[in-house]
Amino acid sequence: MRPPAAWPARWSACSSPGNRVDPGTRARLELLLQSDITAVRDLGGQHGARHYRLHLPDGRAAFAKVADVRRTVHQEGNEAEPPAAARPSRQFQAGQGTQPGFAAEAAGLRWLAKAGAVPVPAVLGQDTTCLVIEWVAAGGPTPQAAAGFGRDLAALHKAGAARFGAPWPGEIAGLPLPNDQAESWPDWYATNRLLPYARIARDAGTLSGADVRLMESVAARISGSAGPAEPPSRIHGDCWSGNVLWAGGRGWLIDPAAHGGHRETDLAMLALFGAPYLDHILAAYQEVAPLADGWRARFPLHQLHPLLVHVCLFGAAYRNDALAAARAAASAG
Ligand SMILES: Nc1ncnc2c1ncn2[C@@H]1O[C@H](COP(=O)(O)OP(=O)(O)O)[C@@H](O)[C@H]1O
Ligand SMILES: [Mg+2]
Repeated sequence: MRPPAAWPARWSACSSPGNRVDPGTRARLELLLQSDITAVRDLGGQHGARHYRLHLPDGRAAFAKVADVRRTVHQEGNEAEPPAAARPSRQFQAGQGTQPGFAAEAAGLRWLAKAGAVPVPAVLGQDTTCLVIEWVAAGGPTPQAAAGFGRDLAALHKAGAARFGAPWPGEIAGLPLPNDQAESWPDWYATNRLLPYARIARDAGTLSGADVRLMESVAARISGSAGPAEPPSRIHGDCWSGNVLWAGGRGWLIDPAAHGGHRETDLAMLALFGAPYLDHILAAYQEVAPLADGWRARFPLHQLHPLLVHVCLFGAAYRNDALAAARAAASAG
């Protein structure tokens, strides 16, 4: 999940990197990996976790995310109240989602890797408090790598899924992400990806009753706006450009909310916050697996889920974007 663009500098500074790691965390990681760790770099953190680069005795490097349930982002930095637009939700502050989160992330990484389509870092260890994966030495994207990524993503989607949803409970940036399995995508998406977040935002006071009624009407009329029925695709599920690393001339996928879903969801997510060489990605994707007519007009429907999650996490700053996506989705049918 993408952090908001304009966090206060003093607030983001609370996540600043360094070389410190507490001995307990280091010992836990060594136990999990059954290996000594020769060096650790603290890379900062977000969403209730701290990130580390680990060096192992055999020369490999690894990326570790470790739940940081003792502190909230807001408490960490300073005593002053952050602005409402940047204030994390109650669920996020409590860090309650982090434990199923690592299991879901590890299961998703393994499931995506099984398709042999897009490169995915290997899972080196996971428990309820942390996830350790192969380090990806990321560089910048190129037009060629972007086109290759479009083809790889099409192959990943084609690998498919037994049903919509996933066998594991999901998590997104500390919020529960229901994955109840179903046979029909429109109902599945409305029930698991739209309505829960509209209601969390209503309860937090960031969406009005009228806003939530708009979301409910999108959900009620979704079979008319979802496009032709397609079989479940094997999708990343949180495919914004920050979750694509570029290495060795290819796009690598990290940090999935993987499930059997609609393939347009991943493409719409890449488009939502901007991805490098998006046109190359989409054109190459279409060469391998053409999308059904009207796909661009359906992007707002697919973008509504991440926008609602942003409303839940970061407050009213994303409300207008979510409402605009809902209106566009309602008129796409
Ligand atoms: N395997 C990896 N190798 C190198 N860097 C990584 C790796 N995984 C994540 N990162 C870096 O850490 C950042 C955050 O990782 P991510 O898993 O997306 O965390 P979050 O759950 O906070 O979104 C990435 O954008 C990337 O810069
Ligand atoms: Mg991420």
